[in-house]
Amino acid sequence: MKKILVTGGSGYIGSHTCIELLNAGFDVIVVDDFSNSVAEAINRVEKITNKKITFHQVNLLDKKSLNNVFHQEENIHAVIHFAALKAVGESVAHPLEYYTNNITGSLNLFEVMKNHNVSNIVFSSSATVYGDPETTPIKENAKIQATNPYGHSKVMMEQILIDTNIAHQWGVVILRYFNPVGAHPSGKIGEDPEYPNNLLPFVSQVAAGIREQVTIFGDDYQTPDGTGIRDYIHVVDLARAHVKSIEKLNTSPKQTHIFNVGTGTGYSVKQIIETFRRISGKKIKTVIGPRRPGDIAECTADTSLANKELNWHAEFGLKEMIESAWKWQSTHPNGYKS
Ligand SMILES: NC(=O)c1ccc[n+]([C@@H]2O[C@H](COP(=O)([O-])OP(=O)(O)OC[C@H]3O[C@@H](n4cnc5c(N)ncnc54)[C@H](O)[C@@H]3O)[C@@H](O)[C@H]2O)c1
Repeated sequence: MKKILVTGGSGYIGSHTCIELLNAGFDVIVVDDFSNSVAEAINRVEKITNKKITFHQVNLLDKKSLNNVFHQEENIHAVIHFAALKAVGESVAHPLEYYTNNITGSLNLFEVMKNHNVSNIVFSSSATVYGDPETTPIKENAKIQATNPYGHSKVMMEQILIDTNIAHQWGVVILRYFNPVGAHPSGKIGEDPEYPNNLLPFVSQVAAGIREQVTIFGDDYQTPDGTGIRDYIHVVDLARAHVKSIEKLNTSPKQTHIFNVGTGTGYSVKQIIETFRRISGKKIKTVIGPRRPGDIAECTADTSLANKELNWHAEFGLKEMIESAWKWQSTHPNGYKS
């Protein structure tokens, strides 16, 4: 069985990806420092799949310990690299912390990979690299113009991997996620933010009575109901795109591949809230606030490249995204602490 090392594997997207990797027959090694996750996520992945994960609690900034992990775990086939700080607003306030964690941590990882002849990697990038796109749906060859330190860190990481492919013939898959939402259909794992940065976990917490109201930031955009439109992708569909990426590195090795991962369909803030009300049967109080700086009217993915080259298609729609998010939230009002 091929070994896949997953950094950030106990986090939101990482834990869902571990399930899909285990179900596809891979051996999974997780490296995480629990800075934004808990060990219980790994326990639950093991319970859901009835398979074992090898876990190392290591910060990527600790290169020596990271090196020991690669020394202990021989014959790693590929790395899936999720570990990063991810809050845009926080990155504006603390750019050095973001660059250190996301860039230095990743450089440590890549150097250790090189020293141990591990040359396949799938990297978590983001639609944020497109900034304010000229047209939407966005294709992968659209202009790259990130607007904040978090986005800049993703652009830099992409370039470092492109250059490493050229110099050392690494197999590289860069996945630009749109808006990952939802939870595993078992309801046993899901997103567990203390303070949500994204719309859907925020709406979930309002529906669950944890927060009072949702602020809609701007209802005067050039969209049918005036609120911002985004492309939401079920986290299980996103997780499966990683398994497809590993397969791509086998059939088309030593190349750099870049794919958008979304559904191609956009939903407005008001549509999300209305659908959540319908599915949860809960009252969700909303207030209209001002637009947030940097927010754009509409952002959806052109996913035709991933559909064709990865042989991957999003299978879940908005209903499944919100049903699964609500199942997780309503049974885990305090996340993994519940
Ligand atoms: N969730 C989103 O909306 C979204 C959108 C686009 C891209 N992404 C990217 O996807 C990846 C995963 O996101 P997520 O939502 O699962 O986040 P998450 O915070 O739930 O998971 C990240 C994991 O990485 C770990 N980590 C962070 N820094 C580390 C370090 N230095 N050493 C070891 N472990 C470390 C954290 O403890 C956490 O378990 C990130 O790279 C993020 O930038 C996320």
